Amino acid sequence: MYIEVNKAGLTYRKHGKDFIALSDTSISIAKGEFICLLGPSGCGKTTLLNLIAGFLKPTSGEVLIDGKRVEGTDPKRITVFQNYGLLPWRTVEGNILLGLENSKLSKAEKMERVDSLVALTGLSGLRQSHPRELSGGQQQRVAIARALAVSPDVLFMDEPFSALDPITRMKLQNDISSIASSSGITVIFVTHDIDEAAFLGDRIAVMEGNPGRIREIIDNRIRGTGDRTSAYYISLREKIFEILKLGGEHDPEYVI
Ligand SMILES: Nc1ncnc2c1ncn2[C@@H]1O[C@H](COP(=O)(O)OP(=O)(O)OP(=O)(O)O)[C@@H](O)[C@H]1O
Ligand SMILES: [Mg+2]
Repeated sequence: MYIEVNKAGLTYRKHGKDFIALSDTSISIAKGEFICLLGPSGCGKTTLLNLIAGFLKPTSGEVLIDGKRVEGTDPKRITVFQNYGLLPWRTVEGNILLGLENSKLSKAEKMERVDSLVALTGLSGLRQSHPRELSGGQQQRVAIARALAVSPDVLFMDEPFSALDPITRMKLQNDISSIASSSGITVIFVTHDIDEAAFLGDRIAVMEGNPGRIREIIDNRIRGTGDRTSAYYISLREKIFEILKLGGEHDPEYVI
């Protein structure tokens, strides 16, 4: 498998006591897979993402990518955060070019790449705008375009859409889903949102806290279809509700 998390754990020393942020966690991820890490606040989603991305080292177990132990971050593995992380003094174009700063492309080739990324992320009319002139959704599109500029092997996203309104959020979900399908990038996507996970993930790792761990990994056979209303999608959500113990009694009158 492309990414192997083998019995990885992370224990912090907190007020003189050990605190297990992530316990004995294993997951294998294929190249090109879209994996959602879903669970309540504090269950270790960011910790697991950071272990795979190389921001943190496990205190037990190991993480391998392409057969090599992850020892730190890698320029071909890019993280998109919730707060966009754009440079306010640079334009949209300038921020996207940041991702190409260390590339050997000629100036013309870089501009061609920016052209296609701007089109892909729906920012064509905003190239010369500064981040302060953009909505949250547009700023997150710039952050995604900048991340894609380096043609990453792995894209890490930690609640990238949680500051957005529901409609903008759904549009960006549609976009990232089709970008992931067409580019073959491996995506590790952290979310609190059950609908988002059910829509985006090829597989959804449902996590729980105290200690942080993966409770169950669910397959999603309709991922990428853009279907938010099918019986399969509804049943997938229900399955997640059940795992998270959020399910109520079904009223037989409303069972389809
Ligand atoms: N540097 C640290 N020192 C001590 N404890 C930490 C540290 N970082 C995280 N933790 C604890 O580890 C647990 C898991 O944190 P993590 O950030 O992975 O949760 P999360 O699932 O991403 O939560 P959220 O959805 O709120 O972002 C939390 O209980 C947190 O308090
Ligand atoms: Mg987090």
